[in-house]
Amino acid sequence: MYKKLEKCLKSIRKKTDFKPEKAVILGSGLGDYAEKIQIEKIVKYTDIEDFPVSTVQGHKGQFVFGYVKDVPVVLMQGRVHYYEGYSMQDVVLPTRLMGMMGAKKILLTNAAGGVNPSFRPGDFMLITDHITTAVPSPLIGPNIEELGTRFPDMSEVYSKNLQKIIRKSAKDCGIPLQEGVYVQLTGPNYETPAEIRMVRSWGADAVGMSTACEAMAARHMGMEVCGISCITNMAAGVSDAKLNHAEVQETADRVAKDFEKLVTDVIAA
Ligand code: 6GU
Repeated sequence: MYKKLEKCLKSIRKKTDFKPEKAVILGSGLGDYAEKIQIEKIVKYTDIEDFPVSTVQGHKGQFVFGYVKDVPVVLMQGRVHYYEGYSMQDVVLPTRLMGMMGAKKILLTNAAGGVNPSFRPGDFMLITDHITTAVPSPLIGPNIEELGTRFPDMSEVYSKNLQKIIRKSAKDCGIPLQEGVYVQLTGPNYETPAEIRMVRSWGADAVGMSTACEAMAARHMGMEVCGISCITNMAAGVSDAKLNHAEVQETADRVAKDFEKLVTDVIAA
């Protein structure tokens, strides 16, 4: 796996030697954000040898290198998901690559279903912790010693310091911010009401199909991690509504402006 990572990195380095300080994975609704920064270089995933390419509609697949208020960043416009059939190792490969490019901090974003009944579609949730036990760990398999240790600590996946910064940014932007625990399930189906009652009893506030595995891989290699979910809908059984991807996209699009504002402020802060 490390060989594959090195090969991908070499492939990128042939196109740009841009050194990002911070990495951002853009979830649903934030896709257009990449076009709004001061772009230095775009590298399409399809132009990177051995790179996993997403099949989901509406997900663009490219790294965007550039500046947000003078901060050198790399943005992932489009991510790959476990439900597409990739191994967890491939799902987190882009995250690891961004770390290897030099990013010391990573902001993870996503669209998620609200499990906490006090949440409303359109809310943002600061991720304070996660539950990944329902999906395989991306760290299963031979440990990549070059990146981190065999048994990494996960007692503070989401940096307390970065959480503070996000709370302040939200306040400064006048954007209300919920907080809670994100649980990653496999998808691609949405959950049953019984499954949602189960994860609620586990302590989950939001449910989604990404992010936690990326957070784990980033922590493994010592990156500082933070995350924000956009609650696009209430999970099954929390409200009477049936779930569909169009609703997820609609809500994400409706609050995209605020999400972009928040992300810009967080990066600068
Ligand atoms: Cl309700 N579940 C999952 N797994 N992912 C989602 C979601 C729900 N809403 C948005 N993404």
